[in-house]
Amino acid sequence: MNLKGRDYIETQDWALEEIEYLLDLADRLKDDFKNGRPTLYLPHQTIYLLFFDKSTRTRNAFEAGATQLGAHAHFLDSSATQIAHGETARDTGIILGSMGHGIAIRHDLIPGAGNSYMREVAAATDVPVINLQCDIDHPTQTLADLQTIREIFGRNLRGRRIVVSWAFAPSYAKPLSVPQGLITLMPRFGLDVTLVHPPEYKLMPKCMEDARRNAAEAGVKFEVTDDMDAAFEGADIVYPKSWGAYDLMMERLSLDSQKALAENERACLELNAKYRDWICDERRMKLAKREAIYMHCLPADRGNEVTDAVIDGPQSVVFQEAENRLHTAKAIMASVMRERPF
Ligand code: CP
Repeated sequence: MNLKGRDYIETQDWALEEIEYLLDLADRLKDDFKNGRPTLYLPHQTIYLLFFDKSTRTRNAFEAGATQLGAHAHFLDSSATQIAHGETARDTGIILGSMGHGIAIRHDLIPGAGNSYMREVAAATDVPVINLQCDIDHPTQTLADLQTIREIFGRNLRGRRIVVSWAFAPSYAKPLSVPQGLITLMPRFGLDVTLVHPPEYKLMPKCMEDARRNAAEAGVKFEVTDDMDAAFEGADIVYPKSWGAYDLMMERLSLDSQKALAENERACLELNAKYRDWICDERRMKLAKREAIYMHCLPADRGNEVTDAVIDGPQSVVFQEAENRLHTAKAIMASVMRERPF
């Protein structure tokens, strides 16, 4: 399968068999890594990692992964570039694309801004653009999640159910991209999906439509509820995490005074506090199947989103999931970056 030059911005842009190819390659690269076999598929190449937000897993998966493929990942903090002085997405794309072989971007904090920024960069260059998390999707995370799920339950996921749940954290506006990425990707691989959140924590309408359509096309269930206990009952996989209140996040975009922003933040925190009991604890884990797994993209807010007993307990697969960020990052880079003759 030739995926050279393809952008990886949303899993929705990729056909099922193309994503399966990435997963199979990630499995092979994991085996090579574990057995010390070299995988120098991208010698002397450069990928630019442009971050508008912080990262531990994503940055290090791509930096280490590039080295292990024989390439170099060049980290760029957007605030230390001329982007901070207003240089456009188009100009940035043309320039970085002319000097390297790939551009990867994290731009996830502003609803309506990150995905469109990446697509502007992608339109300006012929090197592949990889989404390291935007306002809509976190497609390198959900690929690693899927690799992890297949390692545990096998490739045939029909009849299994994942619960994508909101969970409490004392922060006012975490991105929506992880739950949105999960509800759109998982039905395509045969999983029934239950999305559960308090009424104010809805997701973007486009992602809800994609999830419904994907589930209908795959012949699986996509259910939405506001009862966390009921959602957990009989689940195979639980993935509880915090995200921001959609309407308040959208309202925030139109505010320009410090006073109004502070008032919006106060409203977000006040709303959040109503749902302090949305925690993944041992009682809730007992509602799921005995062999159910606990997943989280990390970092987790211990003591709020999840108890230590659950995240450090036998059902947690969070560190396997985090390690798989490396193998899937390598699969994406090795597949889409072009080898250029010297
Ligand atoms: N899960 C995830 O994307 O982690 P980082 O924010 O540390 O990259």
